[in-house]
Amino acid sequence: VVVAAGSGTRFGGAKQFALLGGRPVVAWSVAACREAVDHVVVVLPPGMIEESFGADLAVTGGASRSESVRNGLAAVPPEATVVVVHDAARPLARPSLFRDVVGALASPDVAGAICAVPVADTLKRVAHSSVDGSSCVVETLDRRALVMVQTPQAFVADVLRRAHAGGGDATDDAALVEATGATVRVVPGDPRNLKLTGPDDLTYFEHLLGAV
Ligand code: CTP
Ligand code: MG
Repeated sequence: VVVAAGSGTRFGGAKQFALLGGRPVVAWSVAACREAVDHVVVVLPPGMIEESFGADLAVTGGASRSESVRNGLAAVPPEATVVVVHDAARPLARPSLFRDVVGALASPDVAGAICAVPVADTLKRVAHSSVDGSSCVVETLDRRALVMVQTPQAFVADVLRRAHAGGGDATDDAALVEATGATVRVVPGDPRNLKLTGPDDLTYFEHLLGAV
């Protein structure tokens, strides 16, 4: 399931359709995914499902990322035993990353697998003043215990379906699966597998694409 139904508020428009190396961002994400899985469902904004950007099926998304995933999940063939969820906004993910997260599900007690990278910067918890919006440090965190999480994320299909059955909202699917008590394994991500977020990112992504 490639989720591409966001509005790109921080980017200033639907970033998933911006051209990267002459090809829409979402098409890059679908193409990488396709190398590693049997069937791709792409989730698009309302009124945009005539084009599927290389996916087998296009469906309409919802108001939140989790809702969009649920719409995609509902269109996954019921016989699928593994479901991989990927953000369209990560067009630089390589097919090997998809294979890595799927491969991690081979361990019998593992219900989900995510890819993540170590944190380079010092991390601090801060409190924001409601009076003037300024921030002060509350504490410094141990960054060795923290990772930055990417997509793709792979799940045992029934576990993911159950995790989404409650209709919850989270910034990734693993959070909903974690809440069920299931084990989520972490595999090494790729520092270049960045999420297209702000307006300046596209130039940097073009540069990375040339270097990949
Ligand atoms: N997404 C989605 N449906 C939504 C919201 C997000 O399918 N209702 C998708 C986005 O298209 C993106 C991925 O989820 O591929 C990650 O979300 P994010 O990077 O936050 O994208 P946007 O929500 O579009 O951007 P912003 O938060 O800046 O508005
Ligand atoms: Mg968003």
